[in-house]
Amino acid sequence: MAVTLTINGQSIEASAGRSLFDHAETLGIDVPTSCRKQGKCKECMVEVVEGMDALSAIAEPERHLKGSFRLSCQTCVTAADGHVRCHTMRRGQMRIERHAFGLPVGNRALALDPAVTRDGDRILIDGIEVDRSTGPILGIAMDLGTTTVVLRLVDLESGELIADTSFENPQRFGGSEVMSRIAYDAGHPGRLLMRTLAGYLSHAIEKFPVDPKTIYEIVVVGNSTMRDLFFRQSVYSIGQNPYRSITEIEMAEGKRTTTSLNQTGVQSLLPIHPKARVYGAPIISGHVGADAAACMLAVDLAHEERLVAVMDIGTNTELIVGNKHRILAASCPAGPAFEGGAIACGMPALDGAIEAVKIAADGIFRIGVIGDVPPEGICGSCLIDVLSELLRTGRMNDKGRFEDDLQRVTLYHDQTAGEGKGIFLQESDVNELAQAKGANVAGLHAVFSTYGIDFDDIEVFYLAGGFGRNLNVEAAKRIGLVPGIASSRIVQSGNIAIEGATIALLSKARRQELEDLVKRVEHCRLETHPSFFEFFVEGCQFKPVEPIPSNWPARFPR
Ligand code: FES
Repeated sequence: MAVTLTINGQSIEASAGRSLFDHAETLGIDVPTSCRKQGKCKECMVEVVEGMDALSAIAEPERHLKGSFRLSCQTCVTAADGHVRCHTMRRGQMRIERHAFGLPVGNRALALDPAVTRDGDRILIDGIEVDRSTGPILGIAMDLGTTTVVLRLVDLESGELIADTSFENPQRFGGSEVMSRIAYDAGHPGRLLMRTLAGYLSHAIEKFPVDPKTIYEIVVVGNSTMRDLFFRQSVYSIGQNPYRSITEIEMAEGKRTTTSLNQTGVQSLLPIHPKARVYGAPIISGHVGADAAACMLAVDLAHEERLVAVMDIGTNTELIVGNKHRILAASCPAGPAFEGGAIACGMPALDGAIEAVKIAADGIFRIGVIGDVPPEGICGSCLIDVLSELLRTGRMNDKGRFEDDLQRVTLYHDQTAGEGKGIFLQESDVNELAQAKGANVAGLHAVFSTYGIDFDDIEVFYLAGGFGRNLNVEAAKRIGLVPGIASSRIVQSGNIAIEGATIALLSKARRQELEDLVKRVEHCRLETHPSFFEFFVEGCQFKPVEPIPSNWPARFPR
């Protein structure tokens, strides 16, 4: 008997007393590290999805980790037999879109006007010399998502994209959504979340095919919590009603004129030029962060006459509705369910994730899997498909209950696996998804009713983000995640937050436009909307989102 250890889908017979890190090396798996297995850098995390009981006790260097996370250099297999399955934080394997789609920015050619310029061999930031070099002048646009981090490396003199990368946000050990991270940060001194992320970012930057010291500026966007954690701001106030970033509070008190943040390369702990500037784009308000602000820049809202909406569905769904005359924004605390988190067989959109599902006429699930590998789990876009197919075939009702009192439906079963194995969706998963959907629908209704418009008034509905790009729109309409707007008006635009960050990196004028734009946005606070609860309950049902009916109780605004 022996223990089979599976790391990132590759298996090996485990040797007692040998660390998970060592086994990963034997398998040729690249485990992030800066301390070479000393237990100091905290970067070698793995998430154990099976067989935690077969592992050594938690060691002192990993006491900061919660749940199923372990430091692979500190963890050995101790059991005599069984199966341990784990994976590293998956750098470079996330499916990212290189370009945004269907944006109007192409109509207005972006005039290159970066803050970093050259004068002979002098490199200047806003006219102040920071270096002497004849080498390239590079910058990074960075989107710090709760789940995913995306980097774009750009030549600031030509505007050319040199490289890009993405990875799972390693801060997941502090919880899968922003409120958990805020609580974790408050309870653990030493800025562990920021330092761990900085380690991963440093590795990602060092892997770019350039000298990191030629990177002179980074523009960071992200939700308010992710941005402020990175800039070592206290995030405590974002977690307490009325949910304000410390920068928002200071601005209201007249202590600053913008919610944007700046630090140097040295302060950022990144291996870029020490005098580089790291600019945190301004947030809008509360949880509506710099990523939502960047989306406004990407869709050119400052010059938009048409009524448009931007919905970036994620752990924290951001919603922006308006045009150059009036803009409303809201943040919907959807949680990680639609990104595969909090779902029994959920996983990010990596190789092995089931990404598409159809129920054939014979009642059998037909699945599509990312990569040429056996299925490992279900990614977010697939969850929409599954729910839609279950509804379409009558195997689930609009309350999310399975037919015949079934507790789960199995999408895939590996005949070689044991009883009860396989990839499935269970009713508790459906409940998680219902609540995530409820938050999104409540946001839609709250913003549209506050604006005084109906869904039909929207001329372009941008579905932003990797999730929005890959979901099946008709399935999303059927389950009521996306409103019943004509499909010709829906643009699955991809990661437009990184597009906005890139624009702000390449153009000082557009960056100023962003600074001005955020001050004009009306923040629609869902928690204080009088009909939020009714909207939420309505949105938890799996049925198309309809405009608020005219017989909606008079006490609730339309
Ligand atoms: S390798 Fe640094 S903590 Fe494990």
